[in-house]
Amino acid sequence: MKTDPRPNASEDRDESSHIPVLQDRAITLGVSGSIAVYKALILASRLTQAGAQVDVVMTRAATELVRPLAFQALTHRPVVHDLWEAGSEIAMDHVATAHRSSALLVAPATADRIAQLALGLAGDALGTTALATRAPLLLAPAMEPNMWAHPATQGHVETLLQRGARFVGPEEGRMASGKMGRGRMAEPERIIDALRHVLGLGVEGGLRGRRVLVGTGPTREALDPVRFLSNHASGSIGFALARAARDRGASVTLVTGPARFDSPEGVETIRVETALEMQAALHSRLRECDALIMSAAVGDYRATEISESKLKKSEGPMRLELVRNPDILLGLDEELRSMTPTERPIRVGFAAETESLVANARDKLRRKGLDLVVANTVPAAFGAGLHQVTLVSADGEAELQPMYKPQVAERILDRVERLLERD
Ligand code: CTP
Repeated sequence: MKTDPRPNASEDRDESSHIPVLQDRAITLGVSGSIAVYKALILASRLTQAGAQVDVVMTRAATELVRPLAFQALTHRPVVHDLWEAGSEIAMDHVATAHRSSALLVAPATADRIAQLALGLAGDALGTTALATRAPLLLAPAMEPNMWAHPATQGHVETLLQRGARFVGPEEGRMASGKMGRGRMAEPERIIDALRHVLGLGVEGGLRGRRVLVGTGPTREALDPVRFLSNHASGSIGFALARAARDRGASVTLVTGPARFDSPEGVETIRVETALEMQAALHSRLRECDALIMSAAVGDYRATEISESKLKKSEGPMRLELVRNPDILLGLDEELRSMTPTERPIRVGFAAETESLVANARDKLRRKGLDLVVANTVPAAFGAGLHQVTLVSADGEAELQPMYKPQVAERILDRVERLLERD
């Protein structure tokens, strides 16, 4: 039986491992009273699994919807919900929690809570926490669409933005009431991505001040108005690289062919279709970057002519005439020759091979003028949860243990950091 090489939903999910920028970071999760509180439970759980210490502060309204015990069970930490609870040490301690927090995330943030935060009201534990902390504030609003659109709410949002707070969502879609509109709380994955971005802005060292350009995804070459040539690449490694580089403080541009992933928060994402579009987008950013990581599965051929009308079937075989697409890395290498060695970015390429993995990777390293080649065997490269790569550079090769793609991305960036230091 052949294994299905198509990307599956679990391939980019790495539930077993920690997210470095969240590792051992104290995150205060403020929870206010919206029915979206059920997503805050997922958020608390995922953040804890990702390695963060999550201290939950609930408003009284939130406790009407979910008991504090639920958050306590997920975070393994006490939950603050009542400032005046008789003899509660936790309640007294919450200012200390505010002081050691790396970020205050309010999710869900109701219209009432946004107003209170904008005004600096300190009538409950979440209000005092927000005033006592100097950590960045991130809000994930959840409310009825008219409430979000109301000038009063928008005024408070503006006040908070001017003070440096950040927002993730709300999103458009179906509300709990059944109505459609903008007001849904963002999904936990997106909120975590936004939180990673906020934390990455404060990271020292790593890739701080560096500019990283990532090419990823498949390319898609039209044959007629309804058909195209493409491949099974999902782009997940490139999205993981972009997120991880951002978390390390880099400013990141991601050029991606058709991929099903949302644009990472804080990453300039350029969506393209064809190899020629990808080439143009990468060329336009090349001179500004310190490192170029090219993980795209570029289609080597495109149709000589794209039919304007739908191709009709007929008896007998069908012939398609194809022309070669440019080799993007090779073209960039030529452009790089006009730069001085110090201007030239670090170049990382990928090699998906069916045989002679290291020899072929070494050949690509030399031929395409690369500093590092990330080599893997296909078809295992596409689809499987665990991913095994060999890093090939002028210094030698290192076969890494099988790991999830976000971890592969981290190991690649460790190498990029070292190469940049050496420059
Ligand atoms: N690449 C590129 N432009 C292309 C094809 C590939 O920039 N038209 C890049 C890929 O993004 C990858 C590297 O080149 O970083 C190697 O891609 P791969 O398809 O494995 O290798 P090829 O050089 O095309 O070699 P071959 O098809 O002979 O295996």
